[in-house]
Amino acid sequence: MKRTKYLFLSAILVLAVGCSPKKAGTIGADASVESRVEALLSQMTLAEKIGQMNQVSAGGDVAGYAEAVRKGQVGSILNEVDPVKLNEFQRLAVEESRLGIPILVGRDVIHGFHTVFPIPLGLAATFDPALVECGARIAALEATSQGVRWTFSPMLDIARDPRWGRIAEGSGEDTYLDSRMAVAMVRGYQGTELDSTSMAACVKHFVGYGAAEGGRDYNSTFLTERQLRNIYLPPFEAAIKAGAMTLMTSFNDNDGVPSTGNAFVLKQVLRDEWGFDGLVVTDWNSMGEMINHGFGEDRKDVAEKAVNAGVDMDMMTFGFLSHLEELVKSGAVKESTIDNAVRNILRVKILLGLFENPYVDVEAAKAVQYAPEHLAAAQKTAEESAILLKNDGILPLRGKGRILVTGPLADAPYEQLGTWAFDGQKEHSVTPLKALQERFPGQVNFVPGLMYSREKRQNFNDVVAAARAADVVLAFLGEEAILSGEAHSLADLNLMGSQSDLLAALKATGKPVVAVIMAGRPLTIERDLPNVDALLYSFHPGTMGGPALANLLTGEANPSGKTPVTFLRTVGQAPLYYNHNMTGRPYNGETLLEDIEEGAAQTSLGNTSYYLDYGAYPLFPFGFGLSYTTFAYSQPSLDKTEYGVNDKIKISFTLSNAGKYKGTEVAQVYVRDLVGSLTRPVKELKYFERVELNPGESRDLTFELPVSDLAFFGLDGEKKVEAGAFHLWVAGNSNTGEPVHFSVK
Ligand code: BGC
Repeated sequence: MKRTKYLFLSAILVLAVGCSPKKAGTIGADASVESRVEALLSQMTLAEKIGQMNQVSAGGDVAGYAEAVRKGQVGSILNEVDPVKLNEFQRLAVEESRLGIPILVGRDVIHGFHTVFPIPLGLAATFDPALVECGARIAALEATSQGVRWTFSPMLDIARDPRWGRIAEGSGEDTYLDSRMAVAMVRGYQGTELDSTSMAACVKHFVGYGAAEGGRDYNSTFLTERQLRNIYLPPFEAAIKAGAMTLMTSFNDNDGVPSTGNAFVLKQVLRDEWGFDGLVVTDWNSMGEMINHGFGEDRKDVAEKAVNAGVDMDMMTFGFLSHLEELVKSGAVKESTIDNAVRNILRVKILLGLFENPYVDVEAAKAVQYAPEHLAAAQKTAEESAILLKNDGILPLRGKGRILVTGPLADAPYEQLGTWAFDGQKEHSVTPLKALQERFPGQVNFVPGLMYSREKRQNFNDVVAAARAADVVLAFLGEEAILSGEAHSLADLNLMGSQSDLLAALKATGKPVVAVIMAGRPLTIERDLPNVDALLYSFHPGTMGGPALANLLTGEANPSGKTPVTFLRTVGQAPLYYNHNMTGRPYNGETLLEDIEEGAAQTSLGNTSYYLDYGAYPLFPFGFGLSYTTFAYSQPSLDKTEYGVNDKIKISFTLSNAGKYKGTEVAQVYVRDLVGSLTRPVKELKYFERVELNPGESRDLTFELPVSDLAFFGLDGEKKVEAGAFHLWVAGNSNTGEPVHFSVK
């Protein structure tokens, strides 16, 4: 594998895959599409309509499902990606079913298809929507070439608790960052114009799933309508405005109502307020799970509740197939409800061009997988997603000394792919060890220390001896891929097994130690920081993680990732997020545990909102990340001091690269609404931009922020900008900078 080739290809990448914006609005059906929908619908029996509303996991079993497909009982399949089998499925549907309606083929293409990109949390750390869009486009090119025309992505669940395993699959804790990533992914998957490479996006999980109590997957949520509207719903709305064609309901119940039976969100918000005319699918058996929730007696009952709440397609409960016909006959479900659901499904199939083009070219598909420009994009994305959290000056590595590579993630081709990467093959992964051996022939000694992330070991004599013989130690640590993702919540977020002991043993040798952490979530690494001279946090970086990390360690690339989520000092701080509401007793650094005398008198005076043992602050705030260079911000100035609601705020400042390396800074704009009809967040991210600067370069920048972006759902339930005073920061993370003041009249 030639590194130079990848560098060159990454430079031409944006041009090669083409990523221009798609127009906002609904999924884009025009009158001709609608008349095709109606023409088809008018020919369908009730049974055929219900068949369209049924999705099955048909992995491998063409013969087993052939009869159902012929009878028109399979509107969609998931979990089959073999193009030969998919062609056969389509042939059965198109040529042997009465109406010849093609099948919509879905798959969890979450962060790449064959070429695996960093996990979505890592994608968010790039703060680079254009690059993320390119990655989604590449995923679509690979998947659609094999016949997959629908991905169950992007996951837009705001996650403020890193115990929740699925934090890996989303964009973290911030509504604005999540919304930008949502739009980027939708555009990438679906393309600017719908064609045979368009893969319908499915925004999920609607809604509130990431707020599971205690971070325990599938647990209850208790989100008020205001929290939903101000924090959890906006990314979905942004994605739908960008044209997302489908949406998936979530497993959780919110305040007692399971999402799959929640007409308020599925009808009032989604259809009536947002005008969504795409397809709503349940999550896997989430209709059936409403029986476990105690929200329905049996499959018939939950089928009725789901369809009447606004669900169009049933993933794997078979409740629609088994019971809708009798529910329509009894009058419990109106046929017009069924008709609308089928319209939503047919509309997507027509727009994707499935009727004209149900088959794929099996041979051509092979050439698309792992194409060099796809690998180059995956590498560039992995470079941008890594966050430099500490650097005492050891990085970038200089000179060509002896390098000890150690740790359970150094040569773990499967683990570096991360969660929910079903189609990525570990044989294509380039590990850090491989990349470093190629980069430094004859200089790299590899002693793994631990074979996997949970391994416990008493002594590290072999690694310590190897460290003593080296000039620098590179320790690749973290989590195996299986430790995050769905159903993989954790109550302890320290590095597992003996990884912290390994770092301590390495540190004791006195050799410089650089740690690289590949994980599915922000781990609590405070105890490890003193044992490392530098720390690069890469999440799970995907297929090309190795070359990307090698480039970063050697300085051929300069880290620019920023934390998309708050890094906790200890898990007991969860949930802790930067944009919390203003409290009545803001932290002002008062009494900590060690300041309290034995037998101290009872008092609450002087105490504020924090923990006696851990204070108020996280280990690293949202938006944080270092570079090999340093950036300096001038104090921003605004074009006015008072604005009308239709104005744009012009924010001017100078950003300087004050160090020796070329680098990219993510300049972030935060705002605080000082007084509202409701308590407002202490800060909210409202804009960001990546700015690349040469050493010594200063650039005058002007960002424009529409005042309308300050709107929120207030006490009266209306979304509007409330007049009054605001603070605004432009800074390199959420916990720095001095505010400027303005007001809205
Ligand atoms: C997950 C979804 C996924 C679906 C299909 C479910 O378990 O929650 O996110 O899309 O399975 O694989």
